[in-house]
Amino acid sequence: MIILSLETSCDETACAILEEKNGAFSVLANIVSSQIALHATWGGVVPNLAAREHLKNIMPVIDEALKKAKLTSKNIDLIAVTNGPGLIPALLIGVETAKTLSYLWKKPLIGIHHIEGHIYANFIPDKICIESKVNPPAGEAGSQKSKEIKINFPILCLVVSGGHTQLVLMKKHLSYEIIGETQDDAVGEAFDKVARILGLGYPGGPAIAKVALKANSQKLKASLPRPMINSKDFNFSFSGLKTAVLYSVKKNPDYKLQIANYCYEFQQAVCDVLISKTMRAAKKYNPKTIMLAGGVSANSELRRQLGEAIKKDLLDITYCIPETKYSIDNAAMIAIAASFRYKLKKNTLKLKNNWKNLETNANLKLN
Ligand code: KG4
Ligand code: ZN
Repeated sequence: MIILSLETSCDETACAILEEKNGAFSVLANIVSSQIALHATWGGVVPNLAAREHLKNIMPVIDEALKKAKLTSKNIDLIAVTNGPGLIPALLIGVETAKTLSYLWKKPLIGIHHIEGHIYANFIPDKICIESKVNPPAGEAGSQKSKEIKINFPILCLVVSGGHTQLVLMKKHLSYEIIGETQDDAVGEAFDKVARILGLGYPGGPAIAKVALKANSQKLKASLPRPMINSKDFNFSFSGLKTAVLYSVKKNPDYKLQIANYCYEFQQAVCDVLISKTMRAAKKYNPKTIMLAGGVSANSELRRQLGEAIKKDLLDITYCIPETKYSIDNAAMIAIAASFRYKLKKNTLKLKNNWKNLETNANLKLN
């Protein structure tokens, strides 16, 4: 089966083509047109500007994907599109385009939750897996790019993006129990806001990660808090951490000389909280797999430090992270989620003429 997918929920216009043959997947095309340069001028994503750019780019991106995959519309079996959550003007461009193609090409259409896409990015071949075994065979490499490693349930997934911070427990495919989530800002949002405070531009996550590498041993006078790290639940809070950076900078006349140390300390505070809660959740729920998902999962320190913690404290568990290009927004993740949805829910989905029914929902819930 060949799936063409679209993703326009925020500031990337993306189209992918995925082939599924006897349960094996190959990404035939993964085209992303980024609007970062445009939104950087404003310090964040402007929804109407994003929609205008999506409108301009969506057809060229689809053409490019088909060309890259050496296919035509006749070869496509299913169309998939992100129909929420996200910015409504941006989502509408992807959804309306997908509906139009579905009508014109006479192909079934499926709507996918953006976070379901991020989670399923871990099923794209070339994910990175680390197995923490009771008795690892001698000489076995710790980290493997793996097509072979099977992902077993239950899965505990740490979802970290610009709009979401959640710990999600999956006992089977397409079944989600949110065991904890942020009470205020998402972690990506906190990265972006702190970068703005420090004058590092947009998007803040990659900028902070890069500058943090230059931190020296001269520590900040006051370290930053680790919000809710000791709370008994699995919830998070990042707005106070952002405010702590703001107050510290305001009180510190030399802060411009310590930007790298602020970045390092902020990134470390975030990693400490995310990892501590994930490890506690793992000890309570005993998953067979731990996954990272969402744009912030591109953060090398978070990837590395969570891996270290798992290796040190948990046995018989697989740790999976998507390749970086599938961590940040892309359409291949939407196609692979659609493939699972199609396979497992075909009988209950109303796919015929779905272009008439598919709705866009800025607050779509994961279920
Ligand atoms: O998933 P994503 O691409 O879009 C949303 O669904 O929100 O995530 C975007 C977020 C932004 O807040 C961005 O700053 C953050 O992911 N991000 C990072 C890194 N790369 C992207 N945060 C920390 N470190 C990174 N390397
Ligand atoms: Zn995303």
